[in-house]
Amino acid sequence: MNYRHAFHAGSAADVLKHVVLLETLALATYKPKPLFALDTHAGEGLYRLASGGEADEGIKRLWDRRREWPELAAYFAVVGRFNGTQLKNYPGSPLFISESLRAGDRFVAVEEAPPAHAALQEVLRAPHSQIFLGDGYQGLKALLPPRERRGVILIDPPYERLTERSALLGGLKTALERFRQGIYLVWYPIKDPRDAERLVAVLAPLGEHLCVELLTWPADVRSRLNGSGLFILNPPYGLKKRMGEVVPTLAHILTRDGTPRYRIR
Ligand SMILES: C[S@@+](CC[C@H](N)C(=O)[O-])C[C@H]1O[C@@H](n2cnc3c(N)ncnc32)[C@H](O)[C@@H]1O
Repeated sequence: MNYRHAFHAGSAADVLKHVVLLETLALATYKPKPLFALDTHAGEGLYRLASGGEADEGIKRLWDRRREWPELAAYFAVVGRFNGTQLKNYPGSPLFISESLRAGDRFVAVEEAPPAHAALQEVLRAPHSQIFLGDGYQGLKALLPPRERRGVILIDPPYERLTERSALLGGLKTALERFRQGIYLVWYPIKDPRDAERLVAVLAPLGEHLCVELLTWPADVRSRLNGSGLFILNPPYGLKKRMGEVVPTLAHILTRDGTPRYRIR
């Protein structure tokens, strides 16, 4: 597997994913009861931003003007914790999760690639966190249901293998059999919107859900990635309203041709 997230770190897709993840965690940690979090495809944890990477069209579009968007303050606060006065680093999902959790919560990150796993061990040191080297879909089976009985699970595959979608669907079905009430966030790319629509149609019957999509290019432009989406199973109460407050702002800033395009449904 030669997937390297460093080039993609801080992209428009990462910004959407991490904003939705943070908002979900904020709602899930509203109650004082302990929460379990699982990141099945954790990545390296912290990325050095090089020029020419996808962050140019993502976090770098937002950072210098961040005070204009107080509705995104929680997101900027986490990015800021890994930077000095200048934006040089971008935190990955394990750091967004660990920064959101409280002392009594618990977090498990799973990563399959040994170099990414080793890098993550260097940066994720919070006492409530554990890191496993292995297959995230197996983690869904081995780690669920959590003893806390409340959980947020991020599934963020690279979609490079032809078998990824069947592994995703199988993993989700197993997870739901073991932990029906978990909050599951599934990230997906949008290259051809019809293809993304097919994935959502397969996931939709699994249960109550919310879909958040943002296109940075018009759907008929043949770029590497026109946009991305999050499929959220068992969304916490209030998430749809919160998405209505932050996603239009993101769509406005991240559009590449001046036309904001997003869907919350
Ligand atoms: C998109 S990146 C993860 C980015 C990370 N979730 C974030 O938001 O910062 C995908 C990662 O999944 C890893 N990976 C791929 N297949 C995996 C699997 N079956 N189980 C666990 N990790 C996997 C890759 O090595 C890569 O580091």
